[in-house]
Amino acid sequence: MILTITLNPSIDRRYVVHGFEKGKVFRAKEVQYTPGGKGINVTKVIKFLGEPVMATGFLGGRSGEYIEDELDKMYIKHKFININGETRSCIAILSDDKSQTEVLEDGPHIGEKGILDFYEFYEDIIDDFEIICASGSLPEGVRADTYRKLIGIAKKHDKKFILDTSGEALKLGIEGGPFLVKPNKEELEKLVGYTISNEDEIAEGAKHLLDKGINIVVVSLGFEGAMAFSGDYAYKVKVPKVNAVNPVGSGDSMVAGFAISILRKYDFETMLRLAAACGTANAMEKETGKVDIDNVKRIMRETKIEKMKIK
Ligand SMILES: Nc1ncnc2c1ncn2[C@@H]1O[C@H](COP(=O)(O)OP(=O)(O)OP(=O)(O)O)[C@@H](O)[C@H]1O
Ligand SMILES: [Mg+2]
Repeated sequence: MILTITLNPSIDRRYVVHGFEKGKVFRAKEVQYTPGGKGINVTKVIKFLGEPVMATGFLGGRSGEYIEDELDKMYIKHKFININGETRSCIAILSDDKSQTEVLEDGPHIGEKGILDFYEFYEDIIDDFEIICASGSLPEGVRADTYRKLIGIAKKHDKKFILDTSGEALKLGIEGGPFLVKPNKEELEKLVGYTISNEDEIAEGAKHLLDKGINIVVVSLGFEGAMAFSGDYAYKVKVPKVNAVNPVGSGDSMVAGFAISILRKYDFETMLRLAAACGTANAMEKETGKVDIDNVKRIMRETKIEKMKIK
């Protein structure tokens, strides 16, 4: 079973309006509320592909109850730590010129008790899982080295940990030596401190991460696919051209593909195919964190992989 960790989930509120401009009043043509946060997206894709998964993290207030109800409707197993504050909402306004305007709340402050409860719960249940997948930003009150600690506990229990986050949480998380990290280009740039403009520079950044004891480094590159690094080898992953409707959450879907592949003990190239195909299939859907299985299978066949020795 796979455990997903979303420490700062949200209700994603999506409004479609006509001719959006700042400072005006609009009536929504379409409204959609969905449980969100990167780890929740990962959870949904794992569920779509039929593998056992449980979601955890922090939830609070009416919004927290709403998210739990929605996960129940999707038959997704979940056990969140209840907090005093209210789980956040993130608003996306889509207009007919294809612009997307977003307003993201920081989310509630997590008190010391919530954090201690989470660590205790995590240690209690960890042996029921093979893979732990932590995604997204850390809420206020949670220390920046939290992922590093969670990775340390997972390693003590011989569990594989996938980390997909950014900024300081990623920088410190990497020190814990997770099994797999999946930065996108911008996240890798922030990490290494220089602008990346070619494959050699991606490889240089990835090597720096492999040297920290990470088994697999995947740098995702949007419609251009991804580059993966493990041991002495680098892999170029080219995905087919698709009609991309909404690529938000493609990275999360890719992470789901990796978790599933590790669970199914796929060989390295099949794993890259499935993960990339999950990302690409998600870009074809309006809904974030959704994939069509037939699309995934087709894209897996059409994805091209090139293996090279790391210089
Ligand atoms: N427009 C697209 N067309 C085809 N495939 C895509 C497209 N966008 C993303 N993908 C696929 O999804 C994978 C992950 O996408 P991306 O690099 O955009 O992740 P990300 O920036 O972490 O996204 P997010 O954080 O929103 O989930 C890519 O490696 C690719 O396989
Ligand atoms: Mg991402």
